[in-house]
Amino acid sequence: MARNLDAAVVAVVGTGGLGRALTEALAGRGATVLVAGRSGPVDVRLDLTDVAAGGALVSHALAHHGRLDGVVIAAGVVAFGELEATDDAVIEELLLTNALGPLWLARHVLPTLRQSRGFLVNLSGVVAATPLPGLAAYSASKAAAAAGFQALAREVRRAGVLVCDVQPPHTETGLATRPLAGTAPRFGAGLDPRTVAERIVAGIEAGETIIAASDF
Ligand SMILES: NC(=O)c1ccc[n+]([C@@H]2O[C@H](COP(=O)([O-])OP(=O)(O)OC[C@H]3O[C@@H](n4cnc5c(N)ncnc54)[C@H](OP(=O)(O)O)[C@@H]3O)[C@@H](O)[C@H]2O)c1
Repeated sequence: MARNLDAAVVAVVGTGGLGRALTEALAGRGATVLVAGRSGPVDVRLDLTDVAAGGALVSHALAHHGRLDGVVIAAGVVAFGELEATDDAVIEELLLTNALGPLWLARHVLPTLRQSRGFLVNLSGVVAATPLPGLAAYSASKAAAAAGFQALAREVRRAGVLVCDVQPPHTETGLATRPLAGTAPRFGAGLDPRTVAERIVAGIEAGETIIAASDF
């Protein structure tokens, strides 16, 4: 299920380091990119924790472009610290944003992606496959999203829709400096977001359903 991105209409959810790099990489392939997020200059203002987010994305795309060929979810939150020291509300926001939000959004964009035989990508993370102490709730949220999107890939494959779970390793976007709670441990130098974005876009073009941390 290889994909040609030239002239495709693609929504990128998330205006952070990876969202911006993905927007540039997709535009570089000739795609029309709709930027969606909760802050900054966006084409579609939405919050991933709102079940209405997917519907808003579809309405905008169809009203302004008449089609929607792809959605890339590059939005999420992190928190550091052992689980016993993590507030209940922080755990809830991690699961709501990183797991429930992408699954809700998927439900609401898939009918339109079935029509275009399009693609849906979610960035989980390396912790989905390799959960880490000090990141128990974040790891749980990403593992939940990864499992959901990997199963979903098989649900829609026959309809010609590509679903891809992406598990990037640590990337230098500043995410770790903006946690909901706690302080990041010392990570080694992370990847350049542009390198990560180019690898994800190549994976979409090639029709990959999982891009593991070791693929970067
Ligand atoms: N950087 C890494 O090392 C790494 C590794 C693996 C996976 N990831 C994943 O990649 C994704 C993008 O991360 P990043 O590195 O680009 O981080 P980032 O630069 O901090 O960007 C995160 C983005 O998510 C948005 N966001 C958070 N909660 C949201 C919500 N409820 N609704 C809509 N947007 C929301 C943020 O919006 P605001 O600006 O309004 O806060 C921001 O645009 C995340 O899911 C992250 O877990 C990152």
